[in-house]
Amino acid sequence: MKKTELHLHLEGAAPPEFVRALAAEKHVDLSRIFDAQGHYAYEGFDDFLRVYEAATGVLQTPRDYARLLAEVLERSAGQGVIYTELFVSPEFCGGGDLAAWRDFVAAMAETAADMRAQGIDSRGVVTCIRHFGPDRARRSAICAAETGGETGGDWIAGFGMGGAEAVGKATDFAWSFDCAREAGLGLTCHAGEWAGPDSIRQALDLGVTRIGHGVRAIEDPGLVRDLAARGTVLEVCPGSNVALGLYPDWTAHPIARLADAGVKVTVSTDDPPFFHTTMQHEYDRLADAFDWGEDEFAQINRWAVDAAFCDAATRDRLR
Ligand code: ADE
Ligand code: ZN
Repeated sequence: MKKTELHLHLEGAAPPEFVRALAAEKHVDLSRIFDAQGHYAYEGFDDFLRVYEAATGVLQTPRDYARLLAEVLERSAGQGVIYTELFVSPEFCGGGDLAAWRDFVAAMAETAADMRAQGIDSRGVVTCIRHFGPDRARRSAICAAETGGETGGDWIAGFGMGGAEAVGKATDFAWSFDCAREAGLGLTCHAGEWAGPDSIRQALDLGVTRIGHGVRAIEDPGLVRDLAARGTVLEVCPGSNVALGLYPDWTAHPIARLADAGVKVTVSTDDPPFFHTTMQHEYDRLADAFDWGEDEFAQINRWAVDAAFCDAATRDRLR
């Protein structure tokens, strides 16, 4: 089945062997972030962020990012994915410096064009990091506005926010989201993963059309009704939620209840090697847990295509 994925962190999709090879090339000792089997080793979400940022430390040049993007898109294509949106952060690509960021975007856009010719299309979603604070987010938003939307190339298509949701309020980042919107970028924000319904409402106040995760809306029936009425699309990553302990197992995950309540849910992998998942694994587990079949998967893919931040011609090709 052809799949569309809207929520994939480029750095978080780096296979451990890719990171180890880069670390060896650069003589960086990263052994502390891997377990005896060579997998990423972390305990809980805060530790996950620490390991994630340590692994990202070996991604230093535009070429590193281009190589990573090729590797990640090849793996996605092998899962039947035909379109992916990748979160990528100027904080990790040149430390928020606009001139450096332009070089990273140019390298990634070139790789994305090569991969498009091989059957998998993609777009980049510039992501600010919530626990780095609103000032650093502004720099990311400026990077996004200068390289995407109406003013830049066509690969950067959106702006969003990840990181530690419990830190600060989403609305502290309103300037950045306004800046990205004015540049014509699509907007999404992680919310309703490590905080509850109020956090989702704050993200909605930023003017986003999509929410990263958003699953804890299920704790507030009024919010579920609002999301359904507004047509807000949730980028749900069930395997990530189960791996990080948000839900004890797949059958406890609210994705099917949200869909049954009329909320537009989509399915993504978030940071697949960290969570030992793939797109096919997500689909298989959803089929097992909720008896989802072709109709349900076709529906979530239609919703994903409709919510993608790409241009209309690309969207028509994906339909
Ligand atoms: N960055 C990478 N993965 C994330 C997640 N699951 N939540 C918040 N920020 C992230
Ligand atoms: Zn995420």
